[in-house]
Order: sequence, then C-alpha cells, then structure tokens
Amino acid sequence: MLKYLCYPIVFSLGIFSWVKYKLQGKLPNQIKAPKPKAVFITGGSKGIGKALLLHYAEYVPSVKTIIITGRNASELESAKQEAEIVAMRSKKNDFHVVTHSCDVRDRDAMEHIVQTMDEQYSIDLVIANAGVAKQQILNQDPKASFSKIARTIYDINWNGMLNTVLPIVDRYIERPNKVSNPKQIVLVSSGNAHLPGMAEDYGISKHAISTYAFSLRAKLASHNIAVNCIEPGPVNTDMLNSISKEGYTGTKTEPSKAAEYYVRQLTHNRGLIQYPTPFVVQLLYAMDMLPLVFQTSCILHLQEQYEKALSKTLG
Ligand SMILES: NC(=O)c1ccc[n+]([C@@H]2O[C@H](COP(=O)([O-])OP(=O)(O)OC[C@H]3O[C@@H](n4cnc5c(N)ncnc54)[C@H](OP(=O)(O)O)[C@@H]3O)[C@@H](O)[C@H]2O)c1
Repeated sequence: MLKYLCYPIVFSLGIFSWVKYKLQGKLPNQIKAPKPKAVFITGGSKGIGKALLLHYAEYVPSVKTIIITGRNASELESAKQEAEIVAMRSKKNDFHVVTHSCDVRDRDAMEHIVQTMDEQYSIDLVIANAGVAKQQILNQDPKASFSKIARTIYDINWNGMLNTVLPIVDRYIERPNKVSNPKQIVLVSSGNAHLPGMAEDYGISKHAISTYAFSLRAKLASHNIAVNCIEPGPVNTDMLNSISKEGYTGTKTEPSKAAEYYVRQLTHNRGLIQYPTPFVVQLLYAMDMLPLVFQTSCILHLQEQYEKALSKTLG
C-alpha cells in the first residue's frame, strides 16, 4: 500500500525540492573564487576530469598550467596532447599540461605530487574528481567479492579525495598572503549522494564527500579558501556507460557541456553545483528526509519501475 503513496509524496517533494534548490544553491560566503593560473585535477585523463581540462585549456585565459593525474599513463598523455592543441588554437602559447601517473589511494605519492607541484606552480584550484563505481570494478573483476567492492570504492572515492585535498589544505592554510590570494578546492560528489540506499558503497562514499565539502566550506572561509561541491547527474562517460553492455540509455549530458556549466558556477563560487538534472537530485535529497519506511518503499518502487523501463528499452 505504501508504494501507492509514492507518486503524491514524490510530487510534493518535487515542489519542496525546487524551492530548496533555488535557496540552497548559493550557499553564500564572502570569498571571491581565484582567477586560477595553476589547476590540479585528479582523474583528468578521461570523462568529466578530461572535459574540465579541455575547457580550462580552451576557454579560461588565466589558466597557464594544469596538472592531471590518473593511473593510465597513455590516457594521461593523450589528454595532455589534446589539451595543448586546443590551447594553441585559442592562442594560449604559454599553456602546458603536466601529467602524473598515480593511484589516488597512494597517500605518500599523492602528498609528494601535491607538494612538489604546489612549490613549482603555486596551485590555485584543486579538483578532487577521481572516482570509481561498482560496475567498473566488476567489469575488471567479475568475481570481486562484496567486501572487495566496498573497500575499493571507499579507498578510491573517500580516501583518494582526502589524499588529494588534505596536503593542499595544510599548505593553503599556512600561506602568508591569504587576503590577496584566494584559493579554491572542489570536491566531485554525485547526485547518488542522496540515494545511498540504491548505491550502497558508492552512494555512501559520495554522501560523505558532499557533507565534508559543506563543512570544509564553512571551516576554511576564514582562510580565504573557497570550497565547492559538484554533484553531477548522468554525464556520458565510461563510468556511466559501465552500467551495462549497451551503455547508459537514459537522459545524459555530454562531458563538455557539463564542464562548461561547472566552470561557470565555480567562477561564481557557488557552493553546491548540481548538473544535469538538479531537480531530480534535489528530489532525492528531499527523500533523504523522509522516515526510513517511506524512503525505502519509494526507492524500491521507483527502482522497480526504472528496471522495468530499462529492460523494455533494452529488449
Ligand atoms: N559520469 C557520471 O554520470 C557521474 C555522475 C555522478 C558523479 N560522477 C563523479 O564524477 C567523477 C568523474 O567520473 P567520470 O564519469 O568522469 O568517470 P570516468 O570516465 O570513469 O573517469 C574517472 C577518472 O578517474 C580516474 N581514476 C579512477 N580511479 C582512480 C584511482 N584509483 N587513482 C587515480 N585516478 C583514478 C580515471 O583514470 P584511471 O582509470 O586511469 O586511473 C579517470 O581519469 C567521479 O568522482 C564520479 O563519481 C560521475
């Protein structure tokens, strides 16, 4: 019977969510985002990270250096070459990309890279973007156990984010010229952060990242550090398409379009950036606040409907 309450609940939450999104999106603080010269992006070799790299290379004149990391060295190299070509086409002759092949789980290596790159280029903007979803782990190792999947997801998404952010936070806090020299840290979470019941490890890891981002934003404001949280909806990348052999068949946005939106919002130091489908994400966010019994029932029902629709589409 609870499942029949699903639609009216979802409808009223929808209205509530939209109003909340409009109010909450700004999460204002007084800091002006820096005009970045040096940008550091984890997971910059493909997907959203690469789209951000290409956008900064082509359209943001202040950016002279971008440091990208990932595990696959040849993908990093081809992203670097692509970015340097688009930058050249935009007459940015003094632009270059530095690549570091490294696993975000390697705490010492990440600390070393962040430190040396900051000493060399004085990083203005760090984007902790590298992440992994369950299906990608299963595609590589179909026999991966429940616990292996869980640990891999937390290690990459959560510890990997900390390994990226903490070394730079210390350096940013200690820099002498804070007032004239704003800095920016961006955590890439997910719309799934608000649906942990449907993507247990992934959803929880992203839930933690969003919550952490909001706390950091408040904590670090006095050090003239802007912190932003991006919660992407479906973006057409390997991660999204890993969902099935046929790829993701629902509505999705191209990475370049998402990157353009994210960069624009980051320039305005918007605290919470949800794109695409901010409405759906906020709806999930509002569902988070329902008593668990409604939440579970709604989620299970919606999931059932979604899977039915998906199997129809896929035949
Ligand atoms: N696409 C979406 O629809 C969507 C939706 C919500 C949130 N997100 C979030 O957006 C971020 C980017 O996702 P995406 O869709 O662009 O994924 P993607 O296409 O799979 O790219 C992921 C990037 O992260 C790197 N990476 C993964 N594991 C790593 C590790 N252990 N160490 C270092 N680098 C690692 C990958 O390079 P290597 O594999 O070479 O290491 C790659 O550069 C993720 O945090 C994801 O959770 C994506």
